[in-house]
Amino acid sequence: MQKDKEKGVTMEKLVAFAKNRGFIFAGSEIYGGLANSWDLGPLGTQLKKNIKDLWWKIFVEECQDVVGLDANIIMSTKVWEASGHLEGFNDVLIECRECHARYRADEEIPGFAMRKTGPEGSEATTFTYELVEGHKCKNCGAKGKFTTPTKFNTMFKTNLGPVESEESTVYLRPETAQAMFVDFNEVVRTSRKRIPFGIAQIGKAFRNEITPGNFIFRLREFEQMELEYFIAPPKTKEDWEKQFEYWLDQIMKWLERIGVDMERVKPVEISKEDRAHYSERTVDIEFVYPFGQKELYGLAYRTNYDLEAHQKHSGKSMAYKDPETGEEFIPHVIEPSLGVERTLLAVLLSAYTEEDAPTADGKTETRVVLKLPKELAPIKVAVLPLSNKPELRKLSKKILEKLQQHFVTEYDVTQSIGRRYRRQDEIGTPYCVTIDFESLDDKSVTIRDRDTMKQERVKIEELEDVLKEKFK
Ligand code: GAP
Repeated sequence: MQKDKEKGVTMEKLVAFAKNRGFIFAGSEIYGGLANSWDLGPLGTQLKKNIKDLWWKIFVEECQDVVGLDANIIMSTKVWEASGHLEGFNDVLIECRECHARYRADEEIPGFAMRKTGPEGSEATTFTYELVEGHKCKNCGAKGKFTTPTKFNTMFKTNLGPVESEESTVYLRPETAQAMFVDFNEVVRTSRKRIPFGIAQIGKAFRNEITPGNFIFRLREFEQMELEYFIAPPKTKEDWEKQFEYWLDQIMKWLERIGVDMERVKPVEISKEDRAHYSERTVDIEFVYPFGQKELYGLAYRTNYDLEAHQKHSGKSMAYKDPETGEEFIPHVIEPSLGVERTLLAVLLSAYTEEDAPTADGKTETRVVLKLPKELAPIKVAVLPLSNKPELRKLSKKILEKLQQHFVTEYDVTQSIGRRYRRQDEIGTPYCVTIDFESLDDKSVTIRDRDTMKQERVKIEELEDVLKEKFK
């Protein structure tokens, strides 16, 4: 019987679990930590790698019409001028004058939106300010004590070279996407891809968020898996909508494949007022987290905004010439944009399960199982000798050596076998291989299944093939 599945695991429990099992822990902890920075431990690192590898396999390696890119985090400042990030990548900050708690105005105040901020004294500014005026600080309860909303660019600034000056100022990229536009001509020339085709990238992005938090939900340093799919200028609305629906469907299939609880996935159409400046249509793929329904991924029709902007600012043509018709045009773009850490969070929240399990003495206990899809599990096979006696150890090490050439394998000889099974359940290991004294005679071992807890006896010489079959 599953216990925690319906109501879902709480964030408190998940954070403690992730820390205790070495998935995720607070960054710089020995120095008292650094606000909202999280480091991935051994299992978290492997799980995140498996997520990224699978995304790359599905969206790049298995697609003839998508190629990869690995661009710099620091790009020319002109890129951010052209893309509009220098001017417009802003959050609006308000601060309580009583307790100095800081908030993102659009998140904190119902009805507040950045679009309503206008030039000083304009109707729009007054409207926004009135909303702020009447608002109560949720930290100290003070009413009407907020500072005037101020725009705050969320790009991280640094300097290139030893001299700090305006000329040497550069920015850490706030999205990976711009490199796919800036490098578009080179990719077309070298890959010989024809429109429609996509450029994909996985990499770090940085945003100096005013209110990071909710564990790894909103970070200042995170990774994105982005794909810019270039299409010919659509002649009708259906032309781009067809592509848009295709990518929405691909995102849903991806979420199913990585074991995300689909009942908690909610695609939400974003209104014109709330869309990014470049977007003609945006659907946010939201997820019901324990702290509420919030964005997991975004899908946007960016039109030809970005390529046009880079053409204008760089003076270089970003036009694509159709080799068959000779027609020249600036391609339009559909962009599925996926956050890696939010994926990790949704995967963990979906996989974490508590259920009743029988004990060796016929009683019932609660076991925690991380029901990860096998392809994401950080450890695929655990090799568990029943005892550390030399003859059993020798055989077990031989089996380990063979298996670890094909699967990420863990060897564990401490504690009772029951406790070792529970530990592997908790970290999501699909199969345990147990070597007992009988193995020395019958040249067989036991494979135990994480989800069903069923055990089967398998000849050692067939073990590798049997496991390979199970992972197919
Ligand atoms: N290129 C489009 C773009 O960056 P976005 O909606 O700002 O669009 C895309 O970000 C995705 O990146 C989000 O849906 C989310 O998964 C992830 N993301 C954005 N900001 C984040 C943050 N501060 N922390 C963690 N993930 C974030």
